[in-house]
Amino acid sequence: MTESPTTHHGAAPPDSVATPVRPWSELRLTPAEAAAAAALAARCAQRYDETDGPEFLLDAPVIAHEMPRRLRTFMARARLDAWPHALVVRGNPVDDASLGSTPVHWRTARTPGSRPLSFLLMLYAGLLGDVFGWATQQDGRVVTDVLPIKGGEHTLVSSSSRQELGWHTEDAFSPYRADYVGLLSLRNPDGVATTLAGVPLDDLDERTLDVLFQERFLIRPDDSHLQVNNSTAQQGRVEFEGIAQATDRPEPVAILTGHRAAPHLRVDGDFSAPAEGDEEAAAALGTLRKLIDASLYELVLDQGDVAFIDNRRAVHGRRAFQPRYDGRDRWLKRINITRDLHRSRKAWAGDSRVLGQR
Ligand SMILES: [Fe+2]
Repeated sequence: MTESPTTHHGAAPPDSVATPVRPWSELRLTPAEAAAAAALAARCAQRYDETDGPEFLLDAPVIAHEMPRRLRTFMARARLDAWPHALVVRGNPVDDASLGSTPVHWRTARTPGSRPLSFLLMLYAGLLGDVFGWATQQDGRVVTDVLPIKGGEHTLVSSSSRQELGWHTEDAFSPYRADYVGLLSLRNPDGVATTLAGVPLDDLDERTLDVLFQERFLIRPDDSHLQVNNSTAQQGRVEFEGIAQATDRPEPVAILTGHRAAPHLRVDGDFSAPAEGDEEAAAALGTLRKLIDASLYELVLDQGDVAFIDNRRAVHGRRAFQPRYDGRDRWLKRINITRDLHRSRKAWAGDSRVLGQR
């Protein structure tokens, strides 16, 4: 019988209704487990050309069956729990010297040193669902990079630094957005915090809740989908027209969906607005903003930590920080995961793993 995973719900037994100590579920790997997972990823990095290639995309969820059993048990159970905002696994080994310098741009971030860690993130993701990328974000890559880019310190995208990255549902504008956003911390020497918040259900009055459940809100694509934030080789892609259309003529959507006692959330603090002239929706959105601002909390991903944020239950962002530009800046590998790739069939951009509206 294998030891059960350590989840940090607090001391309460699983059937208790006591409030969890932390709003995320967490596992710390033993050194032996961490080494086994890293060795599996290293073998994949030798055997396969690239993380995003068709062979590894198909094989990764099967190879992930060889990850340590306690880790797989943790992921399988924590995914079914009704409360966590994120699944966090700590203790993956990262050799800082062989990782090499933090690149200056995501375009050059597929480095030999980071390669095994990208494969590791793909294996973790394979335990949760189907991975995908966006035709209009980081050139359609499936494994993407989060690092500060010089000159972009005050932008509204993940390569910002001096400005706080405001809370958002990942790709809130799209019905095909991820169920989970995976982040693997390659380095984070200054302990820059990821921010998270769930639906502030206890503090929402009934009428506001009613309005948030109605299709009275416009959510536009965030700036990471702009042509200017992709490579010039991508500029002609027809999917950017889909982004332009979603920006110019967004369809009204509901911010909350699902069960009234445990709703799913879809909102982006920087890119959401009430439908034109809808004062009641404006007031409801204003109330929600204040409550999320007040309940936002921090999760620091140290080197080797991986987090899978539940993109239906929680919004996320990042605190402001001073970029170093010395090769040691905070650097994360990121991945989008859906529980069902077929749900996005209408948006397959010629490839089931790269989405984009035409
Ligand atoms: Fe994000």
